[in-house]
Amino acid sequence: MLKVVKVRPWRVLFAQKIPRNTRNIHTPSPQTITVLGETYPTDDYTNLPPTIAALLARRLHVTPPHPLNTIRKLIAGHFEGFKCYDNLPAVVTPELNFDSLGFPPDHPGRERGQSYYINRGVMLRTHTSAHEVDIYRETPKSGGWLCTADVYRRDEIDRSHYPAFHQTEGARLVNLVDMDKLRAENDELRRRIADSKIIMKDCLDFDPVTNPLQSSHLPETVLPMAQNLKLRITTLFLSIFPPSSDPLHVRWTPDIFPWTSPSFQLEVRYRDAWLELLGCGIVLDATIARTGHNPVDERSWAFGMGLERIAMPLFGVPDIRLFWSQDERFWKQFKDGQLSTFQEFSKYPLSERDVAFWLPLGEVGGWEENDLWDIIREVGGDLVEDVKLIDDFWHEGNGRRSLAVRITFRSMERSVERAEVNKVTDDIKAALTARLAVEIR
Ligand code: PHE
Repeated sequence: MLKVVKVRPWRVLFAQKIPRNTRNIHTPSPQTITVLGETYPTDDYTNLPPTIAALLARRLHVTPPHPLNTIRKLIAGHFEGFKCYDNLPAVVTPELNFDSLGFPPDHPGRERGQSYYINRGVMLRTHTSAHEVDIYRETPKSGGWLCTADVYRRDEIDRSHYPAFHQTEGARLVNLVDMDKLRAENDELRRRIADSKIIMKDCLDFDPVTNPLQSSHLPETVLPMAQNLKLRITTLFLSIFPPSSDPLHVRWTPDIFPWTSPSFQLEVRYRDAWLELLGCGIVLDATIARTGHNPVDERSWAFGMGLERIAMPLFGVPDIRLFWSQDERFWKQFKDGQLSTFQEFSKYPLSERDVAFWLPLGEVGGWEENDLWDIIREVGGDLVEDVKLIDDFWHEGNGRRSLAVRITFRSMERSVERAEVNKVTDDIKAALTARLAVEIR
């Protein structure tokens, strides 16, 4: 019998044991890559698969009657007077996505395993915050703005995670001389919430150690801002969730972002799980100073929220992949600007296949956990509903490590023959062998 030694969770192990990827996994490596009609040179950072690049043209958030377009408009209606930016291109520089917001050079979000790079100098935005500094620059004093866009992160595959999703970023500048007006506005918003069905668990507005006020900020000028941020967002959910639906459970928790302090996260309860909905906070003076505004007399709050996470409970959409469906049975169910409950059209049977393999011995140029998800998704396309790690052990005899994944195949649009699932599984095995140098068991 094989002697197996169970190891710690693989996320940690991957980070420690497997050398960083310096190869392009999407072999053979072409010299250039074309994204939205622009041609870019590739380099050792290129990791954008064609399946993901193809999503950039979809523009779901500005295409009626898509539910994400409806949500974008509902949010804009709530933040009256805020200027809307809905067409900013997804290809940005790492400077905009990370440096302009003060991400440290070793932040994990910068890694090839986390983000999609066209080459070292250009990437797909991982969040709408990539546009904050540029938009603030053209925002007048005491102005507010919203920016809705598709964002891209390398991720695992399941019913609520997809490597492309949508965010709305919002920000409001307030002049210190207007704090009394802001307090009055907050009182009014509190009255509206008290009369509603929403069940909200708040957290402290700051903590001197773990979620501090900025050193130049006085509580009397920042706390009304933090309250205004939380109240404007809570009332947003009041205004977009229909009053007849069950009470909405939301909770605030402290969070950390490189360009805000204090920072918060909002979660919403959906089908027995807490879903992260948004991150937000009081923008750092250092960031405000970069935008041409004066941090001495202006404060700003900012938030970034995931639209699919709102649309799933609001439209009853059970699987995030459905938003990308081209099937008219999906599109026909929606009317521009209106809420409706999605009727599932697919109860097609699922098939599962297990794929087990030895990791390569020693230095092989390295690879990342997310390479695995991307290759499986690239080969299996939207037939792949879910991938789970089901086994992970070191074999003492041969000194090698083995992994096994269970891939769940299901189409939302048709039933898939066994032969097709077998063929796709074989193709996945071949791609893993060719690109990651694993040995199928
Ligand atoms: N960009 C952050 C995210 O994607 C959210 C955020 C936006 C946080 C604005 C603070 C301020 O998680």
